[in-house]
Parts: sequence; structure tokens; C-alpha cells
Amino acid sequence: MMTALLDRVRGRTFDDFLLAPQLGEIPSRNPDVIDLTSPFTATIPLRRPLVSANMDTVTRAPMAIVMAEEGGIGVIDRGYRPGDVGPQVAEVAAVKRTQHGIVTDPRGIAASATVADAREIMRGTGVGTLVVIDEAGRLSGLLTDRDIRFVAGTVLVGARMTRRDRLVVHQGPMAWPEAERVMVEAKVKKLPLVDADDRVIGLITARDLVKHREHPHATRDAQGRLRVAAAIGATGDFLERAAELLRVGADALVIDIAHGHSRVMERALTAVRARFGDVPLVAGNVATAEGVTFLVDRGADAVKVGIGPGGGCTTRLTTNFGVPQAEALVRCHVAAVGRVPLIADGGVARDGALVLALLFGGATVMLGSAFAGTAETPGETVMKAVVMPESQKIVQVPFKVFRGMASVGAVRDRLDLEEADTEELDAMGAEGLEVSVPARGSARLVIRNMLKHLCSAISYGGAMSLDGLRQALTADPDRFLIPLSAAARTESFRR
Ligand code: XMP
Repeated sequence: MMTALLDRVRGRTFDDFLLAPQLGEIPSRNPDVIDLTSPFTATIPLRRPLVSANMDTVTRAPMAIVMAEEGGIGVIDRGYRPGDVGPQVAEVAAVKRTQHGIVTDPRGIAASATVADAREIMRGTGVGTLVVIDEAGRLSGLLTDRDIRFVAGTVLVGARMTRRDRLVVHQGPMAWPEAERVMVEAKVKKLPLVDADDRVIGLITARDLVKHREHPHATRDAQGRLRVAAAIGATGDFLERAAELLRVGADALVIDIAHGHSRVMERALTAVRARFGDVPLVAGNVATAEGVTFLVDRGADAVKVGIGPGGGCTTRLTTNFGVPQAEALVRCHVAAVGRVPLIADGGVARDGALVLALLFGGATVMLGSAFAGTAETPGETVMKAVVMPESQKIVQVPFKVFRGMASVGAVRDRLDLEEADTEELDAMGAEGLEVSVPARGSARLVIRNMLKHLCSAISYGGAMSLDGLRQALTADPDRFLIPLSAAARTESFRR
């Protein structure tokens, strides 16, 4: 089956095809009812098959938070100077702190401490609820910021707390749905968890319940925290970086280099596996079946596919190496099927191409330029004068920078020695572009539109789910694929 598909896509990419409409089967195109679940890695399923690119103009904590809340995942870039691990670690930590389902290490205070002490802890940590514990860590009560409002600092915590006997307390760990049920039934806003000896092991608050309701598809870890991945590179400080990222709760590591089918990558994969055991590990980029097999044999749990299709890339212009992305995905899928999921990385410049990336082999799709200029991207917004074509008037328009990670600017900023010698920088013909793009609203809207379009595509394709459409295309590519003439391409995509 796969060879039939491979024959159809040789030398081709997304804009070379339309898909023939089939008998629509689904009653609704609503993304809330259509199953789009796809694996990022075997142990990290996503309800939405979207990943934001590890680029320094795309994914920092704000983008990763939106991605995870909407059901995808963000990969925090490593666009910081070698040896300077702290800033990237802080971004990962910020995502993990954002939305605690179950706080496993709630802040404690003694009943004999004063209200002034409690205020100091609350102010310093931003935490509004303290668990009051005795010397052995056993629960004596709860103290919230409302309990101490307008109260003199010298008053003791024990006098203001809600006592243990007036709390609803759960013994033992608890899964999220059960916590939700207990809190609703008992009408409590806080639910402390204790072990058999009454020692505090967690705290759940109503705020977390609200967050869960607002984002029913969010990508969360076992404790209900948002998930986030982080890129580490393949040389230099990558092992220390990995250790620190995992310490603050990174859910997956991404070894991301321009040419993943390489000895440099082999050494990096081996070293990460040896040191960090079975941590979820993504590697890339490659664009051939041999590349995928090479990475999977050396321990990759997922493989990123794409050599040169990216909106910020000039690799193909400068080196003439690369594989058209439709062909790359099918080639790689042949080697990956039944082993690891693929991440289709780059070249998705319109929502229709997203569908094809997912059908040709991507379990998920990584997006860079699709998010360029959104509110969650890092970087300054600058005003630029633009001449309006119709009125010839000059207006001030807000812009943000989007750049390839191998662009001169990005490389210079991080002095990325594994990919470029700084002295050669100007002469080397960097493999990336830097462009200004108009600043726009939240990436959340971009994501929601994409998902609507994806669900419409599933409807046009006569399927009930994303997986259903994938299977139908693989089983009979000719029923779907329409190769386009130049005129048909113009009719389809030029507006
Ligand atoms: P899109 O098309 O979504 O692609 O913007 C994002 C992907 O592009 C890759 N990337 C680069 N490739 N030179 C390259 O050859 C670069 O400077 C560069 N920067 C990013 C990367 O795989 C990203 O996920």
C-alpha cells in the first residue's frame, strides 16, 4: 500500500495535490467531537496533533502554555548561549508551574507561626493557600489569604486557620476525575490529600478545576500540569542542559540538528540514552527512510522529518540538498510505521497543507511561520511605516521578527558553534532567513482555526476521525490524490 503512495508523491510536495471529496459521513465538523488524537511520542498522546517549533522567535513559555492548553505541545528552543542553561530551564519551569492540577508540594506553615510570617510566604511565592502542619508534617488545618485579611501580624496562624476537623480531607493519592467529583459533591474549594499517617501529600484547589473545564483537551502530565518539551542540541553543554531541563519537569527532550542522519547525532543519542534512561526523546531532522531507521535504532522515540521545507529555511537554495516534504513524509513513514510516530516539520504555510502533512505520515505537525507574529511569540513589537497600496497613505503597522534558527541573526545571538564557526559566520551563507511579519492576535485563534479546517477536511474526506482518513488514503491513494497542473495549482491556491 505504502509503495503506491510513494510512487504518487515522488518529487512532490503539498501544493502539488488536491484531495477528491468523498461522501461526508460525520454529523458535525465540531473539533470538540471529532477524534484528532495522535502520539507525540508513544507515552505522550496529544488530543490535537500540533507542535510549536523550537525557534527563538516562536516558542518560549507563553507559546508552550497556549499549545498545551489547546491540546498540542510546544518545544522550548535552546537559542541561548552555550553554557547558559538557566534561561531555557526557567521557561520550562514557568510552563510546569502554570497550571497545577494537584499541587504535590503545597507550601506549609506551623500553627505557632504568625500571620506576618504567613503573609511573607504568600507574597514571596504567590501562593494563596498554605497547609498548616505540625513538626511531623501532619495536617493541622488550612490558611488562605482571606483568613488573614485585616488581621494583625502578631496573631498566630493557629487562631486563624480552618481546623483539620472542619476540612474535607482525602486519604491517599487521587486521580483527577475523582478529585473533581469529591470537590463538587462536598462543595469545597480546597481538598488536601494526606497519607495514612495524616502527612500532607497534596492539595487541590477549585481554581484548578476551572482551568480543567476551560481546557478539556489540554496536554497534561500525571499530576495535571501542562506538558512541555525542550530542545537540547547534540554537542557542547547538551547533557547538562538535559539534566537541568528534566529536573524542572520537561516532559520530553528534542535533539534537534539540521542534519540528523549524522555521526554527531549518533553520539548524542547514545549519550542521552545512557545517562537519562527511557526519557521521551525526539530526534531529527531527517528526510529519508534510512535516516529514520538510523535514529530509531539508536533510541529515538519520535523522529522529526523535514530538510529544508521550513518558511525560514534556505538550506535547499544554498546546498541543493533536501526532499520535497510530501515525498519525505511518505518515505519516512515507510520506515517508521509500527515503530515510532513522525513529526512533520516545516512547510505548512496554509491550513490545507496541515491535512496533507498528517495524511502523508506526520502523526503530528510542527509549525513555525504559521505562528509568526502572534502575541505569544517572543520578541519586541516594532512600528514600521507602510505605504497602503490603494490610498498611497503611510500608516504605522506593528511588526515582529521571525527568523530561521540558522539565520545569521539567530546564530550570532547564540554563537552556535556546532553548526557554524563564528568567524565564518558572515561568509558561510547561513541557512536561514530573517523577516519582519505583521504582529497579530493570539496563537490560540490560529490553532482553533486550523482545527476547524482540519475537521472540515475529515468531513470532505468521508471519514469519522483523523486516523480514519489516514487509513482510507493509505488503502487507496488514487481515490483521493489529484496531482495538479500549473493552471490547477493557480486556480486552487493563488488568491
Ligand atoms: P515552518 O515552515 O513551519 O518551518 O516555518 C519550521 C521549521 O523550519 C526549520 N528551520 C530551519 N530550517 N534553516 C533551515 O534549513 C533555518 O534557519 C531554520 N530555522 C528553522 C525547523 O525545522 C522548524 O521547525
